[in-house]
Amino acid sequence: MSTQNNDIDTDGLTYLEDGEVLYSELYLLSETDEKGIVTYASDSFLKVANMKPDDLIGQPHNVVRHPDMPRAAFKSLWGDVQSKGFWTGYVKNQRKGGGYYWVHATVLRSIDKSGNTKYVSIRVKPSREDIQKAIELYATLD
Ligand SMILES: Cc1cc2nc3c(=O)[nH]c(=O)nc-3n(C[C@H](O)[C@H](O)[C@H](O)COP(=O)(O)O)c2cc1C
Repeated sequence: MSTQNNDIDTDGLTYLEDGEVLYSELYLLSETDEKGIVTYASDSFLKVANMKPDDLIGQPHNVVRHPDMPRAAFKSLWGDVQSKGFWTGYVKNQRKGGGYYWVHATVLRSIDKSGNTKYVSIRVKPSREDIQKAIELYATLD
């Protein structure tokens, strides 16, 4: 099933000509420690990110950062999860080996088994309309 003539579908992923990758997974999950070092990534997230566990686990979460993302978005993410315990927003991530994908992320503060602070991100697929709004908003931010 293709959304445009030249799209290529493999592994349930759709590769658009401009590098965007569309996915049908319901949730892409990851967890970090207090410093943003990744401690867990779901198979669905690894697949969409085109990564092996070793590419992500033990690394700072910014290994998936896309240069188009404004610094202000992550400033608000870290400010909100630390002060309010949650943040929600749109994120464009860089795929390993090229390409990118958009997520609507909810990041929550939690406590691990040892009583240490951890953060959990639950990502779902945004609508085209929401992606377009995020592109327009992020173009105005630093
Ligand atoms: C649970 C959690 C999930 C995160 N997920 C992403 C993500 O998918 N993509 C991303 O670019 N940054 C993500 N971040 C933010 C990164 O830690 C980092 O702040 C961001 O990539 C910007 O990099 P910088 O802080 O080095 O400027 C996440 C942070 C947390 C706590």
